[in-house]
Amino acid sequence: MFLEGKKIVIMGVANNKSIAWGCAKAMKDQGATLIYTYQNERMEKQLAKLAEPEDLLIECDVTSDESIRRAFGTIEARVGKIDGLVHAVAYSKKEELGGNVTDISRDGYALAQDISAYSLLAVAKAAKPLLKKGSGIVTLTYMGSVRAIPNYNVMGIAKAALESTVRYLAAEMAHVGVHVNGISAGAIKTLAVSGVSGYKDLIKESDSRTADGVGVTIEEVGQTAAFLVSPLASGVIGDIVYVDKGVHLT
Ligand SMILES: NC(=O)c1ccc[n+]([C@@H]2O[C@H](COP(=O)([O-])OP(=O)(O)OC[C@H]3O[C@@H](n4cnc5c(N)ncnc54)[C@H](O)[C@@H]3O)[C@@H](O)[C@H]2O)c1
Repeated sequence: MFLEGKKIVIMGVANNKSIAWGCAKAMKDQGATLIYTYQNERMEKQLAKLAEPEDLLIECDVTSDESIRRAFGTIEARVGKIDGLVHAVAYSKKEELGGNVTDISRDGYALAQDISAYSLLAVAKAAKPLLKKGSGIVTLTYMGSVRAIPNYNVMGIAKAALESTVRYLAAEMAHVGVHVNGISAGAIKTLAVSGVSGYKDLIKESDSRTADGVGVTIEEVGQTAAFLVSPLASGVIGDIVYVDKGVHLT
């Protein structure tokens, strides 16, 4: 159990289909104590159904510096130092996830960047004083960052920014003994993905490209995340690890 005694913050569980939930399960399996953050009351209700009584649930809306500050202040007061953080948060208005990229609005572009890319920096800043040496930060990305995937549009652009953010943040955090990486997950049916126009075709196409025709699971992504937040991954810095059963190869 390589996360025995480790306290890990998990951001982004919306329900039991969430990639963050796959991360939570894998980390629990490795002995971690979990602290969940949720976006709003609606998400809290879903999360409360999944979490165990000993888990800590804290509100954190990443569009608000005050909410982030309050959340990490509460984490420090309740558990003290932490050993890792999973950032599995993204959002775009539905109308920006389809049609022409030339129709992306200025507001929609800024919002997607704010929640899906900038938030990693804002959260890392708040978490930095709490993260012990040997801790890991992991974020979630998608190969729409490096390829033009139909309809992924504004989120692909935000994921490109997020991956660059991983590299710059990793270079900084390495100096305090914290390794930062991203996982590029294969397409999985979640709440977030259902905002992408024609998402069923995206998932079908993605599944058909895996070696066995079966898509990657949140549990498989979670297992890699568990490794990447742990001290076992101290030598992996600023990387994007593909967990998509080889879809990106073909
Ligand atoms: N599902 C996929 O196919 C896939 C593939 C690769 C990467 N990803 C990425 O994985 C991550 C998790 O997404 P998911 O697919 O599990 O979907 P999900 O809908 O289960 O999770 C997205 C989470 O983002 C949170 N969020 C949105 N706005 C927020 C805000 N302002 N403050 C705090 N939290 C906020 C939501 O509450 C939700 O919990 C995202 O970064 C997503 O882009 C998903």
